[in-house]
Amino acid sequence: MLSYIIEGNNKIEGTVKASGSKNAALPIIATAILNPEPVTFYNIPDIEDTRITLQILKILGCKVKVDSGKISISSQNMHNKTIPKELMHKLRSTVVLAGAILGRFKEATFSYPGGCNIGKRPIDLHLKAFKDLGVEIEEREDYIHCKSKKEMIGAKIKLDFPSVGATENIILASVYCKGVTHILNAAKEPEIQDLAKCLNRMGAKIYGAGTSRITICGVRKLKSSDYRIMTDRIETGTLLCAAAITNGNIKIENANPENLMNVLFKLKEMGCDISITKNTIALKSPRILKSVDIETSPYPGFPTDMQPIIGAVLTKAEGTSIIKENIFENRFKYALDLIKMGANIVLKEEENIIKITGKTDLKGETVSSRDLRGGAALVLAGLSAVGTTKVENAEYILRGYENLEDKLKVLGANIKLEKVDINAKES
Ligand code: UD1
Repeated sequence: MLSYIIEGNNKIEGTVKASGSKNAALPIIATAILNPEPVTFYNIPDIEDTRITLQILKILGCKVKVDSGKISISSQNMHNKTIPKELMHKLRSTVVLAGAILGRFKEATFSYPGGCNIGKRPIDLHLKAFKDLGVEIEEREDYIHCKSKKEMIGAKIKLDFPSVGATENIILASVYCKGVTHILNAAKEPEIQDLAKCLNRMGAKIYGAGTSRITICGVRKLKSSDYRIMTDRIETGTLLCAAAITNGNIKIENANPENLMNVLFKLKEMGCDISITKNTIALKSPRILKSVDIETSPYPGFPTDMQPIIGAVLTKAEGTSIIKENIFENRFKYALDLIKMGANIVLKEEENIIKITGKTDLKGETVSSRDLRGGAALVLAGLSAVGTTKVENAEYILRGYENLEDKLKVLGANIKLEKVDINAKES
């Protein structure tokens, strides 16, 4: 088991570079399955989630070469159409590999995906969309088998909710479809625009990504290509919040402020001084932060992935803040740990709301990550707390943040990753 040990109450100050986007990297790696020609991707973050995805690609028969952020993949000799259950359970986003395998081979076998335990997270919208494309689906207790007996034909697909994963899966599954596919009520997240850009560079014909109506005109083949993936907007937001919660001052390079506007507006409303250029964001925390209300919603609304992070910062804001989570039904577990650290938080579980009253001086405690972003929120709380904070189950955090420990150290944090040998503890 891995834990972050943090000696808190240090200001986060300095300049740091944002990494490549986790949520863009995963579907973009899936494009290498769709495209039998060799592809190269740059700026892929070296995190557990990308490592697992690449491991799956190797098992499927792809050749993968990793060279610090540059990843070359050839799926020419890919033979296996089944995603291994154990790896699929580790990571929810592996579900987009299904759309890519299906698009290439008209057949895919996979199981229900795992990932962060932040809600029910069904895949009904993905499967319904595959059916709309003419795919037959056999759902068993431990696997799902998808097969199209004939050529897959483009269709008009209306999503009941603008699901990010389902939109990506439909794009991947329909690139080679005969005719035109329309996705109505598509997700508009920047990661979807990045996926479409990457595929279009390979020769796909995808229009409207970033709007709620995406059109995919089927093509017969894709060509060899390279692509540099976008910056991680959630990592950027997390680092900005690390400065905000510690009364610090940060500049993030290689950032994309355009993708983070809703978060920047909220931080500004809290009193932070923010300046942006095309690819940098600087934040100076005020002496006293102000409370704000937040409601999560699909892009361009306030991102659910930033909700726990900003929740930690709001413990330091004067007044009462209300956060309403509208995307996932189980995303407030971190609040219990913040309460343990001294935060004044009331949970209204039935309404998916928390009420945070500050400002509180957090104190170091042993707390536990229960999901990726909730874990990161606890690290931020630890940075601002008086005394030592131990954030257990750091594995969750390592899934999504590249070199978090090193980046925070450069910015003045006293943080280290500690490995606990469970067997040694027991004996
Ligand atoms: C992606 C992101 C995740 C982010 C989320 C919302 C990746 C790897 N993950 O997750 O970080 O928090 O978008 O911005 O990109 N739903 C259904 N049926 C489905 C699919 C989704 O009911 O078939 C529901 C989910 O339970 C959830 C909501 O739709 O309540 C949003 O899910 P979705 O947009 O699909 O999120 P993910 O793609 O899983």
